[in-house]
Amino acid sequence: MLNAAFPENILFESFTFPFFDFNNKACHKSISEAFFSKPDPQPNNGKRGLYIHIPFCETICTFCPFLKTVGTEKRIKQYLEALHKEIDLQSKSPLTLSWEIDAIYIGGGTPSVITPAQAFELITSLKNKFNLTNNVEITFEVEAKSATQELMSALKSSGVTRISFGVQTLDVNIRKHVNLTATIEDIKNTIEMGLKYFDDVNIDMIVGFPGQTISSALSDIRNSIQLQASTISLYPMDYVTVLPKFLDKIRKGQIPEPASVKDRWIMFHKAREILSSNYKTQNMYCFGIGNTSPCKYMFEILYGGYHDQYIGLGSGAYSSIRGLIQHNTLSERKYIDSLLEKNIIPVENASPGHAYEKSFVYFPKRLKATLSEATSLNIDSSILPKLEYLENLGYIEKSLDEVKLTDLGIRHYERIMVFFLSDAQRRIYDKMCRRLEGVLGLNSDGSMLENCSINGRLGVKNTLS
Ligand SMILES: C[S@@+](CC[C@H](N)C(=O)[O-])C[C@H]1O[C@@H](n2cnc3c(N)ncnc32)[C@H](O)[C@@H]1O
Ligand code: SF4
Repeated sequence: MLNAAFPENILFESFTFPFFDFNNKACHKSISEAFFSKPDPQPNNGKRGLYIHIPFCETICTFCPFLKTVGTEKRIKQYLEALHKEIDLQSKSPLTLSWEIDAIYIGGGTPSVITPAQAFELITSLKNKFNLTNNVEITFEVEAKSATQELMSALKSSGVTRISFGVQTLDVNIRKHVNLTATIEDIKNTIEMGLKYFDDVNIDMIVGFPGQTISSALSDIRNSIQLQASTISLYPMDYVTVLPKFLDKIRKGQIPEPASVKDRWIMFHKAREILSSNYKTQNMYCFGIGNTSPCKYMFEILYGGYHDQYIGLGSGAYSSIRGLIQHNTLSERKYIDSLLEKNIIPVENASPGHAYEKSFVYFPKRLKATLSEATSLNIDSSILPKLEYLENLGYIEKSLDEVKLTDLGIRHYERIMVFFLSDAQRRIYDKMCRRLEGVLGLNSDGSMLENCSINGRLGVKNTLS
């Protein structure tokens, strides 16, 4: 029987699943230890990944919600020392010793702010200390200003298989407004240089920037195709997770207002159509040439199923292990002190959710799912009625073991993600939405409260057909 309502308005979909249960007062350290101190009971079920966080950037883009800061040589060196210690400790845990790693993602911040020698040392240490599969994928995020020939060469010789960097927009006015400081020349050089070393050079593009209209966003996407990267990842600008300072700048008129929710929704879906006719559609966000495949770490592990698990290393990094979700301290200082002075991994929050439905919550991002995942986890009584409901609405198609989003379903992908949350996770999600409404001054439908000058512009309402 179907007892979950199909959500009407969605405030945000860029969430990490499962959610933390902040009412859980148990000791976070003990919860975490219960998972790391024993070997994986089913090491061959699902894929395994490592995420490494480098929280430094040369300059800060005003729209970016990630954990990052402008570093100095000294701070970066100390941070890397602590990171090496965490790698050492983590690689010796019974859980990790039972794992074979399929994919490593070195992200940030901007990993390319570390020197070529530091990058080589970091990747070599990961390769030496963890068991990796023969065809392990290793992604390294760069930024166009710091991506040098020496770095590319060090990454290639250490075993990196793909690089990824944010172009975001080629519109120089918008770039100035949001402090994107690389020049168009830097961007072109980085792609050209990257393709000499790697088959897969991904660029990220965002639509929905302040001041962007539908036609300017679409010509931006057309221009990005001319750059000839092997993959383009397209993201709708997320105004919910951005920092309050960025929203304040819009409110004060220091940067232009964003287009309405409806126009930004049109931008994203029209931009997808443009990219689809020039590249092969890989999933909700990624478009690639020829036989490039979507990032394994992102689309088979992070957005994979219950059995696809990852460990995050570095300040603020998340781990997800059979329903456990945990993250390290967000503080650079605490991270360094805890590892270098006390030899302790500074886990700040750990929540033992069950997350059996992870594959279905993230299925809209991947565009497809396998039905047997529900049967094998014994959750078919909650998943099958939801699939039937979506099939009747024309949002999905089923064939044998596979479920796919239809074109109509693609347009409602955020609603479908939230629809698959378990009742307990949905309660946490609804609570987060209510809190965000208060903090950001949003109505429950995602539009701004009345006394704000930018009504209806910042939320993520998507009840359009
Ligand atoms: C950690 S950054 C990328 C690496 C590198 N620091 C760079 O900027 O080139 C990851 C990606 O998140 C995306 N991103 C950042 N802020 C965003 C926002 N407010 N909404 C949507 N996507 C965002 C950008 O596309 C960015 O390239
Ligand atoms: S988008 Fe990249 S470079 Fe810009 S602040 Fe975020 S992590 Fe740093």
